Amino acid sequence: MERPKMNAQQLIDTARLLVAGDKGLLAIDESNPTCNKRFEALGIPQTEEARRAYREMIVTTPGLSNCINGAILYDETIHQTQKDGTPLIQVLIEAGIIPGIKVDTGAKDMAAYKGEKITEGLDGLRQRLQDYAKTGARFAKWRAVIAIGKGMPSRACIASNAQILGRYAALCQEAGLVPIVEPEVIMEGDHSLERCCMVTEEVLRTVFSELYMQRVILEGMLLKPNMILPGLTCAKQPPVDEVADATVWCLLRAVPAAVPGVVFLSGGQPAGLASARLNAMNVRFKSKMPWALAFSFARAIQQPALEIWRGDDANVEKAQQALYHRALCNQTARRGEYNEMVEGK
Ligand code: 13P
Repeated sequence: MERPKMNAQQLIDTARLLVAGDKGLLAIDESNPTCNKRFEALGIPQTEEARRAYREMIVTTPGLSNCINGAILYDETIHQTQKDGTPLIQVLIEAGIIPGIKVDTGAKDMAAYKGEKITEGLDGLRQRLQDYAKTGARFAKWRAVIAIGKGMPSRACIASNAQILGRYAALCQEAGLVPIVEPEVIMEGDHSLERCCMVTEEVLRTVFSELYMQRVILEGMLLKPNMILPGLTCAKQPPVDEVADATVWCLLRAVPAAVPGVVFLSGGQPAGLASARLNAMNVRFKSKMPWALAFSFARAIQQPALEIWRGDDANVEKAQQALYHRALCNQTARRGEYNEMVEGK
């Protein structure tokens, strides 16, 4: 059966808008369990109302659209409203920020492959995508998790997650949503930067082969990869420039030039370091890269604001200032103009 005709140009336009200028994306799509975990660590009540108030604080940050082209929401958030009843998605659209939606249902333990994960959520996805598109979402996100360790990642883990990412991306484009394809090689472990580079290259090559197989329009999607980093407990932690070089070299080898943008996840890096590394990549390689190199951070934009907010209305203004500051630092990093003065050190 022929796939229904999609509007390819509309997908391409949206993908370009998401990485336009020197702005990036803001990920506020933590699932309820993940959001609750972050709240619990700071003594914030883990309730639907607290999550709503937190997301309202974020999306009403004055001037956010100066630095942010799009925001990724979670299912609960896309249906929530501001205190005055305005849907949060409406607040974003009116601010000039394109709304997106996380559509996977989480990385689950992979059968027969201890320690590895497979992302679920394909069942019923076609209908959910249509519903989200009607609600106003214009792009979607799916995260696959690849762990490095003894005997990991297995070929089976890489191949299965890549195939699922391809199927997800094709369904998104059918529904008129730009897919953000996120294969995350996670930082846990004591592996070297070189090993992260080898694994990431294999993962990306496999993912793009699947995207080709599933007839995904590369011009109408974005890639959300990890930076090339050593494991968190690796004794050798390289300088910023070394991370920048390894990351861009790896991407140049594995990411087709037709893709309009690469938007990094932050993966638990300290916020300032994530900005410094993105900055170094743009300083050293901007003229040599075929795609825009931008950001789609969650923790590296939100964490300082969350620590100030702590569930208290009285802290909203200060938390918003902290959020704006991080968004601005990353925008500056996209231009290759981030430094300690911008950071405010
Ligand atoms: P982090 O930037 O916190 O890694 O989150 C990005 C994201 O969207 C993970 O799926």
